[in-house]
Amino acid sequence: MDWKSLTFSYTKTNTMLCTYFRNGEWTPVESRTDDTIALSAFAGALHYSIECFEGLKAFMGKDGKVRLFRPEENAKRLRRSAKFLGIEAPSVEMFVQMCEQIVKENLDFLPPYESRASLYLRPTLIGCNPQLGVASSSESMFMVLCSPVGAYTGGNLEPVNCVIARNYDRAAPNGTGSHKVGGNYACSLCSLNIAHEQGYKAVLYLNPSTRDTIDEFNSSNFFAIKGNSYITPLSDTILPSITNKSLEEAARYLGMTVERRPVPVEELSTFEEVGECGTAVVITPVSHLDDKPTLESDEVTRYTYVEEGCGPKSLKLYNFITSIQYGEIEDPFGWTVEVKM
Ligand code: PLP
Ligand code: COI
Repeated sequence: MDWKSLTFSYTKTNTMLCTYFRNGEWTPVESRTDDTIALSAFAGALHYSIECFEGLKAFMGKDGKVRLFRPEENAKRLRRSAKFLGIEAPSVEMFVQMCEQIVKENLDFLPPYESRASLYLRPTLIGCNPQLGVASSSESMFMVLCSPVGAYTGGNLEPVNCVIARNYDRAAPNGTGSHKVGGNYACSLCSLNIAHEQGYKAVLYLNPSTRDTIDEFNSSNFFAIKGNSYITPLSDTILPSITNKSLEEAARYLGMTVERRPVPVEELSTFEEVGECGTAVVITPVSHLDDKPTLESDEVTRYTYVEEGCGPKSLKLYNFITSIQYGEIEDPFGWTVEVKM
């Protein structure tokens, strides 16, 4: 494999793992070489979006050890999403055990340390029994899939241009915004497609209740740097990002102040650095952010942060967190879980 040219796209690996919750228990975990699944055409996942998922990465360390980053956090978040959908989810222990198993079965797809790439894991939970009425599914199917991945957009730390979607929302107040359900991503596609046509890499959504505070990007959380502060939105309609939570802890550890609070759009002009953060994007600096009355409008207010490269504080945080992930420095927080061979 040409590890250096990996992007965030699907590569078929050796196996996927699969188990069903039926009659009050999980079936034994099956390891399948085929990446297709047989499903009733009436499965709740297909009609009523009874689906939630997670994303986490396995890293080949400098010391030859393989590490997962905070898998218990993903397990807990999946259980929270599943509770919202009213379907059965695996225990934290079962989730982590299956993540370790998929890594071991696909070690030849784990990018080498030098590549700065990783093996992305996609635990996916769907309602799978045939049903017609709108109701939570009584049977669940839990899969753990994987694919080697590189940078989400462009190269690592390559800045992206983004646009605010003032006339599109991704989440409803009191709705699914804080859960990692597939439907949220479907809701983002129309605005994302318009933004892509205009050459933007990502869309920034506003809080759907206030309409003048920042929520998050289509596939990542928002953070900004002002002086010595790491600032990130407080909102009920954003995904509680595990990367963002880790960056907050990292920022404090590195002597920065952390502010999690509502972030008004007007404050954008006062930030020194702005970035996306998440498992897939890691830290991706934002070069400039365009604010338009509507996504379709030609009228633009532009906030510029970097022309190229990454701002110094974002870079410091990126280096710190990736050094822990790749086993280059001690993990002072106990975030990583070693996959023992
Ligand atoms: N926000 C959205 C909408 C996402 O899809 C993701 C990706 O998982 C994140 C934020 C970042 O979350 P995490 O850091 O847990 O990957
Ligand atoms: C992740 O960062 O793991 C995500 O789930 C983002 C994704 C939708 C590409």
